[in-house]
Amino acid sequence: MTGNALSGDAHGGMERHSYDVVVVGAGGAGLRAAIAAHDAGARTAIVCKSLLGKAHTVMAEGGIAAAMGNRWPEDNWEVHFRDTMRGGKMLNNWRMAQLHAQEAPERVQELEDWGALFDRTEDGLISQRDFGGHKYARLAHVGDRTGLEMIRTLQQRAVALGIDVFMECTVTDLFKEDGKIAGAFAYWRESGRFIVFDAPSVILATGGIGKSFKVTSNSWEYTGDGHALAMRAGASLINMEFVQFHPTGMVWPPSVKGLLVTESVRGDGGILKNSEGKRFMFDYIPEFFRSETADTVEEADAWYDDKKNNRRPPELLPRDEVARAINAEIKAGRGTPHGGVYLDIASRRSPEFIRKRLPSMYHQFKELADVDITAEPMEIGPTCHYVMGGVEVDADTQESAVTGLYAVGECSGGMHGSNRLGGNSLGDLLVFGKRAGEHASSYAAPLGPRPQVDEADVKAAQQSALAPFEVEGGENPYTIQSDLQQSMNDLVGIIRTRTELEESLREIEAFKVRAQTMVVEGHRQYNPGWHLALDLRNMLIVSECIARAALAREESRGGHTRDDFPGPDAEWGTKNLVVTLNAEGTGVDLHEKPLPEMPDELKGYFA
Ligand code: FUM
Repeated sequence: MTGNALSGDAHGGMERHSYDVVVVGAGGAGLRAAIAAHDAGARTAIVCKSLLGKAHTVMAEGGIAAAMGNRWPEDNWEVHFRDTMRGGKMLNNWRMAQLHAQEAPERVQELEDWGALFDRTEDGLISQRDFGGHKYARLAHVGDRTGLEMIRTLQQRAVALGIDVFMECTVTDLFKEDGKIAGAFAYWRESGRFIVFDAPSVILATGGIGKSFKVTSNSWEYTGDGHALAMRAGASLINMEFVQFHPTGMVWPPSVKGLLVTESVRGDGGILKNSEGKRFMFDYIPEFFRSETADTVEEADAWYDDKKNNRRPPELLPRDEVARAINAEIKAGRGTPHGGVYLDIASRRSPEFIRKRLPSMYHQFKELADVDITAEPMEIGPTCHYVMGGVEVDADTQESAVTGLYAVGECSGGMHGSNRLGGNSLGDLLVFGKRAGEHASSYAAPLGPRPQVDEADVKAAQQSALAPFEVEGGENPYTIQSDLQQSMNDLVGIIRTRTELEESLREIEAFKVRAQTMVVEGHRQYNPGWHLALDLRNMLIVSECIARAALAREESRGGHTRDDFPGPDAEWGTKNLVVTLNAEGTGVDLHEKPLPEMPDELKGYFA
């Protein structure tokens, strides 16, 4: 079944469906997981908040990182693995980084076999472009619309395979029996009717948390649903202090502030300048990347033609470095009229080149800002883009600490350490989507008696979902959301301090109190206020995880910069922070956990 028609057995107005594997989310990770589960023989359903084909993956622009060696035969999984670990400042789960680097080329090839139309090299191979932190041009791409083509391909395949899709349907609770997953509870966004899914395997593929921040490249679905569902089911999250601020989001006009400006602009030759016309990134090359970064304009420019004999331009440092540099220039008063810096490709590449390689950027600026990027520079600034933190999973299977519960893509944690390299998320969701689908299916298939959904839990989930209708005279969820977004932007943003993080935690506590009495008007039929009230619970819990972990980590690393603890600390470089829901279910417990030990043969790559 595809669509949101009411179907299935109705029990007292509540639908009920039974599957082996239920995948929550229909972005790249969810679709790839569902295809794998289906191919492994599982009766599989996809449940997604928005319309099929509208997942946030379509906003992924630049490409899929995979060491295919199409442009640089020297490239291989070992170099990709090394780049990924260095980009994550060595906090990555080494096994996930290894699997990702080894399997991404095969996953890209498979996508092509399924009909994805990639751009080509002169020799007819899949084209690969440059991105920050990657030693070689490695991103397989379709202009600057790679995510769109990925979703088109995966969606077409999922539909052709006959996988059931419940779209515009939001999951609000997970059910367990004896500590094992038994199913999920959801509501149709249109009618407000409830659905129970009986399933021993649930795969969370709900994406990120960006909607907790005011300025973000993320779409409306990104309210941390999978993170919060997993925590409430008893799983743990890791790396939540690490939030990626993409260096280049639009800053003007206000209605599109935060919208992504792909890193491909810099990969294809774009440079960053401040209001004085200075190419400032040369002033921000950190010691860690000095040996591989050009320190003169001549060498940086020569790199585009001769990568063997030159080092990479500083504009292509990993994102955390570039975002901090832009932030510093703006703070120092060298920003543009609308509070960004300039990104200039017009003076460096021909209009034909720009329109061919960056068609979406060309139209985005022309239509939204009346800027012709083939003739003038763009104004850009950092935007909350990605959370490195997520559900703590087994590297090989993607299973969480809860039996039968899997997480994949942005809502899982570990793969990217403290900072993700551009292009590694599209690779991540293909590689681990397949793995999660296969493992969820093989867990479900031979199971004898399945964990049963307890009717008392169904009632409780229903009551909890309807609670906002019971309140009288309370506050509107939109006000709380907007205050939360402002607070996270101001106090838990790119640069953090102890006092601001403490202040943020006090504010989150106050938002939680306000949320207890938030009120929604009207009825259950398509009611965005009610939907937001339910999402807000998730946003509040993930925001608390981020602020708590950020307060605890007294160092600066990747997507976590502490003004009061500048620079990385060797001791902190050996451990992750893990968060769980506290016993009362009202807040967050936090503990430290040593990083998994990397085998000696892999350590050799970092000598
Ligand atoms: O800049 C971009 O095109 C974004 C890609 C990514 O986040 O991987």
